[in-house]
Amino acid sequence: MLICELEKRLAGALERVGVELPEGMTVQISPAADLRFGDYQSNTAMVLAKRVRTNPRELATKVVDALELDGLAEADIAGPGFINFKITPQTWSERVAGLLSDDRLGVPEIEEKQTVVLDFSAPNVAKPMHVGHIRSTIIGDSLMRIARFLGYKVITDNHIGDWGTQFGMIIHGWKTVLNEDDLQADPVAELLRVYRSVNAKCGEDESVRDTCKEELVKLQAGDEENLKIWQRCVELSKQGLQGIYDRLDVSFDFWYGESFYNDRLAPLVEDMIASGTARESDGAICVFFDADSKLAEQPTIIRKADGGFLYSTTDLATIDFRVEEWNADQIWYVVGAPQQLHFQQIFEATRMRGQNPNMQHIAFGSILGEDRKLMKTRSGDNVQLVDVLDEAIVRARAAIEAKNPDLEGEEKEEVARIVGLGAVKFAELSQHRMTDYVFSWDKMLALQGDTAPYLQYSYVRVRSIFRKLEDGHQLDPAAVSVSEPAEIHLARTLLKFGETVPILLDDFRPNLLANYLLELAKAFHSFFEACPVLKSEGDVQMTRLVLCELTSQVLVKGLGLLGIQVPERM
Ligand code: ARG
Repeated sequence: MLICELEKRLAGALERVGVELPEGMTVQISPAADLRFGDYQSNTAMVLAKRVRTNPRELATKVVDALELDGLAEADIAGPGFINFKITPQTWSERVAGLLSDDRLGVPEIEEKQTVVLDFSAPNVAKPMHVGHIRSTIIGDSLMRIARFLGYKVITDNHIGDWGTQFGMIIHGWKTVLNEDDLQADPVAELLRVYRSVNAKCGEDESVRDTCKEELVKLQAGDEENLKIWQRCVELSKQGLQGIYDRLDVSFDFWYGESFYNDRLAPLVEDMIASGTARESDGAICVFFDADSKLAEQPTIIRKADGGFLYSTTDLATIDFRVEEWNADQIWYVVGAPQQLHFQQIFEATRMRGQNPNMQHIAFGSILGEDRKLMKTRSGDNVQLVDVLDEAIVRARAAIEAKNPDLEGEEKEEVARIVGLGAVKFAELSQHRMTDYVFSWDKMLALQGDTAPYLQYSYVRVRSIFRKLEDGHQLDPAAVSVSEPAEIHLARTLLKFGETVPILLDDFRPNLLANYLLELAKAFHSFFEACPVLKSEGDVQMTRLVLCELTSQVLVKGLGLLGIQVPERM
């Protein structure tokens, strides 16, 4: 990467002028804030001058004189002692030509191939999977794609809630209000109806609440009939969920839901009592975080006084399993912000037990309706994910019909699917995950805007250039020579892909990639306006064709890392 090479050369120059870097400090070069002054900049001379008590501009001058850049870039000094680097057109040409034969498009692989368990989506069975789950599913899927591309060994695990208290209600409903025909026809809808109907009755009638509790206790005690109902219910729900994941192009290596850990809970609690990490309090078994000032007042229960286990107990058992069976070095949880305390507690309890995988709670905010309130349907229910996907496709189809009436039949349907789903995913991923974002159909589907359709359309435009080329074309990297400002800017932006992808996992921010892709598409459109491709000739045309080819490759790869496909026409 250019940045690393410049850093090495800067370090060399510092050595030659006899300035030593203090322990733990490395030379720092970053992309320039203002491209008029250069492509990269460094404040290292200023930081060092302060330490060795010398004039920063003087030190910067000495360092620049000692730099051996060999035509890679030109350096000069700005302000109080910044060193600016302007990459030469020749370097841009060489680098961009080099991307053509690099199937990683400039993105380095990590050296230490750690194993990451990625816990995302994880809806609760027999309860509706609503639009809030879309965030976990889409962010998690994108993180999986990015991490795998960078070289991590990623295990995806859908930790579904298949053993919660909701089963008391479901089983009672199954025995009293279930309609078998409707269950056959649309299991998810029927289970939802049953759940809602019992839930409403529980609100009104205490005796219904008690019956549900009894059904739950029977299930937990292993009652055969209830276990059978539970099993069928989980199976049907899983099939329904699988249908949604297929449509979203999301998949999991494992679906070890909560129930998978049932047998491990009692021994885990015993073990924690024996090791002193948990102790009794009012009949319940609790973990007290005395050593942690933030959690000191927030103990967590792992076994209730009535013997029941909790969400945290299951999560602790799950961590054991993932570390022991899968050798997880890291565990990432993509779960909404309201569960922050829960994760702080189980992470701390895990450390107290002497295990220390790198555990991350990757939280996110809410999705709001256009009235800026939590998104609901007109009747006040949570919006369902399937409905969102259906509507996205219907709206994308209408937009495509208006734009390109030539598209017909299967091709039109396929494009509508790719554009509609892409729009929903991109609206999600282009926001910082903690932002509460407003779900707006018009905004996410706009062809001119910060949207997936805009990026997909940019790709289609690039490809159409190649379709118009008269004779077959062989791209020749040796002929690449960028000189026009718009060519240089596009080359610079293409090379930035290799700098962008590696930092996405620093704070789990796929939105940086989304923003980068918008920047690339804009650089391409400016280039396309300023630099005719089909009407140019010789090496100039070859240079431009290579830039076009790489633009389309980076768009496909980058969107792919967000889980978004591209159509060939639209
Ligand atoms: N089922 C939970 C919910 O929807 C999310 C589970 C997240 N994963 C975990 N290991 N706790 O609220």
